[in-house]
Amino acid sequence: MIVCRTTEGKSRQTGGSLLRDSNEWLIWISTSWRSDSLLPLLQQQKTRFRPSSSADDCGISRAVEELIERNMEMITGRVRKKSVFRVFVGLRPRQMRSCALLSFQFLLLLLVVVPSSGFSDGMCGLEVEERLNCMPVSSSKILVRGGIVVNADYQQNADVYIEDGIIKLVAPNIKVSDDVKIIDATGKFVMPGGIDPHTHLEMPFMGTESADNFFTGQAAALAGGTTMHIDFALPIDGDLAAGYDSYVKKAEISCMDYGFHMAITTWNENVAKDMETLVKEKGINSFKFFLAYKGSLMVTDEEFLQGLKKCKELGALAQVHAENGDAVAEGQTRIFELGITGPEGHPLSRPSVLEGEATGRAIKLAHFVNTPLYVVHVMSIDALDEIARARAQGIRVVGEPVTSGLALNDSVLWDSDFQTAAKYVMSPPIRPAGHNKALQAALANGILQLVGTDHCTFTSEQKAVGKHDFRKIPNGVNGIEERMHIIWDLMVNSGKISVKDYVRITSTACAQIFNIYPQKGAILAGSDADIIILNPSRSTTISSKTHHSTIDTNIYEGWSMKGNIEVTISQGKVVWANGQLFVERGAGRYIPLSPFGPLFDGLDKLDAARIHSYNPRHRTVV
Ligand code: URP
Ligand code: ZN
Ligand code: ZN
Repeated sequence: MIVCRTTEGKSRQTGGSLLRDSNEWLIWISTSWRSDSLLPLLQQQKTRFRPSSSADDCGISRAVEELIERNMEMITGRVRKKSVFRVFVGLRPRQMRSCALLSFQFLLLLLVVVPSSGFSDGMCGLEVEERLNCMPVSSSKILVRGGIVVNADYQQNADVYIEDGIIKLVAPNIKVSDDVKIIDATGKFVMPGGIDPHTHLEMPFMGTESADNFFTGQAAALAGGTTMHIDFALPIDGDLAAGYDSYVKKAEISCMDYGFHMAITTWNENVAKDMETLVKEKGINSFKFFLAYKGSLMVTDEEFLQGLKKCKELGALAQVHAENGDAVAEGQTRIFELGITGPEGHPLSRPSVLEGEATGRAIKLAHFVNTPLYVVHVMSIDALDEIARARAQGIRVVGEPVTSGLALNDSVLWDSDFQTAAKYVMSPPIRPAGHNKALQAALANGILQLVGTDHCTFTSEQKAVGKHDFRKIPNGVNGIEERMHIIWDLMVNSGKISVKDYVRITSTACAQIFNIYPQKGAILAGSDADIIILNPSRSTTISSKTHHSTIDTNIYEGWSMKGNIEVTISQGKVVWANGQLFVERGAGRYIPLSPFGPLFDGLDKLDAARIHSYNPRHRTVV
């Protein structure tokens, strides 16, 4: 006997899927599927259905067969409505009535059986995007039971009760009613979802566009335990408002929470005015200045100074890509003219001294203006030294290493196979061995505060544009899906940091710096229910064959480790479990970020002290 009913949630996806939720099967159909393409798919799915137990076999396989038979006859035209069905095995009179109504009300029913081994051979395996088209588990009440709950400052054995997307209670032995979905986390770490402060989804760059969009990139993030990211919106021809609008549009397909930084690529009155609007009305509290990419994104020192002043006035955090762009351009010509055209020319043309110089300069200019500075993708000891020295002097500078810079060294760029070497081309470049170890140490001792990814992906085909000229290889690497696992392995498995520190550098520090703590970055009553469950004894292996990014390569290919993020909960829903993604296009929320975050606390007093010191009678005070 088959019974089904609609779910409450509305789907905005453009694919179809079915997932198992206890003894229910959830089936979803979309308006975008044409009947002629559906018919063969239904037949194919019918033959591929494999029940995972004998109980399933007796009920569900029959149910699936019947549904296919019944609905194939109805395939007559384009689907006009979309809906979600739940299929029960067994007799449930109330749902039976609604099933009878619904199954004849809609023209089509797409049926896909989730394979027992993830996406590898499901319908989702047909195309990368289709891998991701699965519905979220709809339960709004969840109890994560018996885990080790870890915050940046405190760890305890406790249960976590979630309702309507919010953490309601963190305490031992929480009693709940029968309608609550229970997730057993015994022996596992229950931690705030990762927050990636540095991504570039669908970014127009170097004559192309980064390959992951706000759906594929975010789905990948969720599969790797990251539940929020802050993406860099780029202006269009220097126009911030137009750039912002274009990113709002791109992000409509989001499936997880996100915020924006905005890049400043030129300076004029309109830029200053738009910065003000973005901060006061659009929820942007940080602006990135590129001191590299001469001729495209780079700003001059004069433009940078004006931008720093405006950031200070607005309470927005200034961020900097610190490489000396003039010298990089010179270095690129020099290396290319020596006949070095391959990917190894990339690191040779922009050595770490140029990163150190720009980092030091940016810090000094920001200090001159007395506004905090955030240095993105710190890749070298040279930059690290500048940050360490400034911090020792009490200067407010935050350093963000990225997963690639922490994990890899530049030997990979010397691979004789172009495709292999080119996938590692990013800026600033991955440095010679030794820099990564220094960055890890600085992250452990607090000189660097948080980890980003600089996720900016390009396919092998896109990278191939630079086959004969390294200057044309689109700069960028993957990481949004891998960061949480790689950092666990590099920093926790190696004994360099505690699990609490892991939470701090992957989530809490980012939430604090960008002024969304404790809505994000904490497992506390009242915080958003963005949670991961990490099993420290289960292994993970990274591969482009199983990742969820849209690209065909992975810079961490073959990386194996102990530690596996088994469950990701985003907005209070299970979106990743048992190797399956349950994400919904359009379910992601824009999280506005308020100005005057903690880095601005007391800045007015420092200003006053500085002005005070200008009086000759007060010279000794400061
Ligand atoms: O290579 C990189 N980093 N690509 C993205 C743009 C940037 O500089 O962050
Ligand atoms: Zn950059
Ligand atoms: Zn970047």
